[in-house]
Amino acid sequence: MADVRLVDIEKKYGNFLAVPQLNLTIEDGEFLVLLGPSGCGKTTTMRMIAGLEEITSGDIEIAGKRINDKPPKDRDIAMVFQNYGLYPHMTVRQNIDYPLKLRGVDRAARTRRVQETAEKVELEALLERRPSELSGGQRQRVALARAIVRTPSIFLMDEPLSNLDAKLRVTMRAELKHLHHELGVTTVYVTHDQMEAMTLASRIAIMREGRIVQLDTPKRIYSEPADLFVAGFIGSPSMNLIDGAIAGGVFTAPGVSFPVDQPDRDDVVLGIRPEDLEISTAPDAPVIGKLYALELTGESTLVTLRTGANSVCARGPADHEAEINAPCHFVPKPGARVHLFDRPSGHRLDGLSAKGQTL
Ligand SMILES: Nc1ncnc2c1ncn2[C@@H]1O[C@H](COP(=O)(O)OP(=O)(O)OP(=O)(O)O)[C@@H](O)[C@H]1O
Ligand SMILES: [Mg+2]
Repeated sequence: MADVRLVDIEKKYGNFLAVPQLNLTIEDGEFLVLLGPSGCGKTTTMRMIAGLEEITSGDIEIAGKRINDKPPKDRDIAMVFQNYGLYPHMTVRQNIDYPLKLRGVDRAARTRRVQETAEKVELEALLERRPSELSGGQRQRVALARAIVRTPSIFLMDEPLSNLDAKLRVTMRAELKHLHHELGVTTVYVTHDQMEAMTLASRIAIMREGRIVQLDTPKRIYSEPADLFVAGFIGSPSMNLIDGAIAGGVFTAPGVSFPVDQPDRDDVVLGIRPEDLEISTAPDAPVIGKLYALELTGESTLVTLRTGANSVCARGPADHEAEINAPCHFVPKPGARVHLFDRPSGHRLDGLSAKGQTL
């Protein structure tokens, strides 16, 4: 097992700066998730840790040792690639077996391990096929099996579940969580799926344009997003973000009026999550508009109202029924958290930044 330290690492492709001066310490045994939009540098960062991409400057340390010049095979890392990276001429069995064979594990132990691992990822029936004879999701499971067939010092997983159907993704997510609990191997995991990030991570690093904008536990990322980018990225449906101004201790926007403990200022964004709002008939509710859409999700109904240029969404009870275009009022639930951000910089407003405001 090992901790991983990235010290001022930078990656340039020609003149293009893909990752500028990244600093990140992944603790021993931690499950760190890199989360961010396409092109923000997640794969590049993983490939630098794996040694598959040369770093332009900076240092990478594993277990306290600088490993910049160590070839990939000597880093004791198992990686799941975004594009699978399977050996096309080998069968599924041979692909999964390869890391064990490379390390001289004896044949009987290898056969047993390959079988056990194939069962974990539901591939037992496909062991004699070649990658070209598999679907995308099946290939992805082979790549996952090849990584978890042995216990390395570090796992690097680049969107290992993205091509699986919803049901299998949830099963595999639990499998990975269990595996991490059993083995405690330091893991860096890339995903676009914020639910996956929230459920798997010890900490989440949210990346944007090669930079880490927030590094925190899932709980804090959710309850205290550092800026508008993070606030909008985490949560489904995402946080309601409403442009307005504060005057006399009240945040105001068309149809919206919230008491806040902040000095007067313009260019403010108020954020409140759909799960922190409930439907009300109160005439003085803080959010008043017309019902725009009702979406039943199974366990709840997403209720969207329109007021001025804003749409505001609340998570209501599954049995909620109402007419589209009818008046619709929302109030914060007891204990609801209201977030305030500075519009020009996007930063969370100080004063509220430590704990958020509870109504
Ligand atoms: N070999 C390369 N040459 C030039 N630019 C590259 C190269 N590889 C990646 N890039 C650029 O570096 C940036 C980061 O790419 P990277 O693949 O790390 O993104 P990502 O966060 O993994 O995105 P995705 O979620 O789409 O996989 C992108 O702008 C990409 O176009
Ligand atoms: Mg990528």
